[in-house]
Amino acid sequence: MPLPDSLVDTIGRAGHVCVLTGAGISAESGVPTFREAQSGLWAEYDPLKLATPDAFERDPALVWRWYRWRRALVEGVEPNAGHRALVGLARRVPRLTLVTQNVDGLHQRAGSEAVVEFHGNLFAERCSDCEQPASDPSVSELPRCPACGGLLRPGVVWFGESIPATALETAVAAAANCDVFLSVGTSSLVYPAAGLIHAAREVGAVCVEINPNPTGQARTSDFALAAKSGELLPELIKALDARPMNTIAEKR
Ligand code: OAD
Repeated sequence: MPLPDSLVDTIGRAGHVCVLTGAGISAESGVPTFREAQSGLWAEYDPLKLATPDAFERDPALVWRWYRWRRALVEGVEPNAGHRALVGLARRVPRLTLVTQNVDGLHQRAGSEAVVEFHGNLFAERCSDCEQPASDPSVSELPRCPACGGLLRPGVVWFGESIPATALETAVAAAANCDVFLSVGTSSLVYPAAGLIHAAREVGAVCVEINPNPTGQARTSDFALAAKSGELLPELIKALDARPMNTIAEKR
């Protein structure tokens, strides 16, 4: 899809771009999104049975099985052109903050640095009792904390839990201090992540949505681009590089 020149120009002039990504950016790598009707991650299971502290208390083995299945799935895929384009974008603007709701680590594997992991990481573990990050070398079905013997749990944020304080502070500060806010591949339904755009709008940032299925936030965005991130983001990089007045040297 053709990119509006005014958007390319705005991003080319921006001092600070804040990017929020969701499951959609990993869709083209083969990771199902959460809310696809037939094949999404929630299609067969109720999220409340898998991604809440109560679910873990009730049936930790089921929860662990689901997370191990997701780990294997993510280990078998590669970052896509959308992830890679965001690495390129970070080199073309003075400052970029990348906040992701994804727990798959694909941004980091693509080469993005200082990724703000809003919902934790699929491959992290911590103790459900003493809360310390830990791992159990015994690879048992129900891993245990080597320090206190408590059950280990996936190091992700579950429904009803707080966002890690540092990630929340960094993301809110970035949204409230950016010139351009790019919302990529998220249904914008889960708060507080979905609220970051409000902080950006309040400071007059240009708000952009990239999603083949425009969300409720598209109407209030300055640009709503109904396209796949793996196609549109590389186009954006090309368009930035082709700007006639391109004076921003690529950071090395
Ligand atoms: P969702 O599954 O809710 O939404 C994925 C979005 O990606 C949808 O709006 C799709 O239209 C869009 N999409 C699909 N393919 C795309 C593509 N190729 N390019 C761009 N966009 C595409 O996933 P999230 O918004 O990430 O939280 O969900 C937010 C949170 O809800 C997740 O982090 C997770 C979930 O419950 C927790 O587990 C706490």
